Amino acid sequence: MKIFLDSANIEQIRQAKALGAIEGVTTNPSLLAKEKGDWKKIVRQICKEIEGPVSVEVIATESAAMLAEARDLVKIAPNIVIKVPITIEGLKTIKELHERGIETNATLVFSANQALLAAKAGATFVSPFIGRLDDVGQDGMQIIQDLVTIFRNYELSTQILAASIRHSSHFHQAALIGADAITIPLDVLLGLTKHPLTDIGLAKFLADWAKK
Ligand code: E4P
Repeated sequence: MKIFLDSANIEQIRQAKALGAIEGVTTNPSLLAKEKGDWKKIVRQICKEIEGPVSVEVIATESAAMLAEARDLVKIAPNIVIKVPITIEGLKTIKELHERGIETNATLVFSANQALLAAKAGATFVSPFIGRLDDVGQDGMQIIQDLVTIFRNYELSTQILAASIRHSSHFHQAALIGADAITIPLDVLLGLTKHPLTDIGLAKFLADWAKK
């Protein structure tokens, strides 16, 4: 399972990169809006820091305007992936971009049907939002399970990118089910390193060594 950082903050991205675990970054308009400064410069900086895919979302809601934005975005760096909301206009955009050899990430996916259509249109990634489904009382992880089965049934090459991840149990379940990739905030990434027995064990080793 590839691990991406869900952040537009360059310090967080550097911190995660130093751990050797992240292979890409996902941003969204809310994450970029939180950062001070010119968003294009921030995206350029992220793309220099990270060799793998960096998802940046279009703001337009009509296909022609989405395509115009995508054309500008891909000029920023070769590793840009165009994030497109899974609407009718978004699907048209994904299809066009796929035909032009541009990678896409279908976002705001809340059902397996939406994801299947995005895959048919040629999306590189589909991003089901697990945490937001959990928030409204659904089992978000079920969509990952369903998509692994559906994409395998029809040998679809679109990658399942588990998104809206809130805790280490989401991470564990996505890996177990077989998501191709996951995007996580820095606090979830750092939380993955923690276990109380590691802390207790380390304290004991150091205490024993100090007695030598
Ligand atoms: C995915 O690409 C999105 O940026 C993100 O995972 C959304 O997560 P949230 O529900 O925590 O905002």
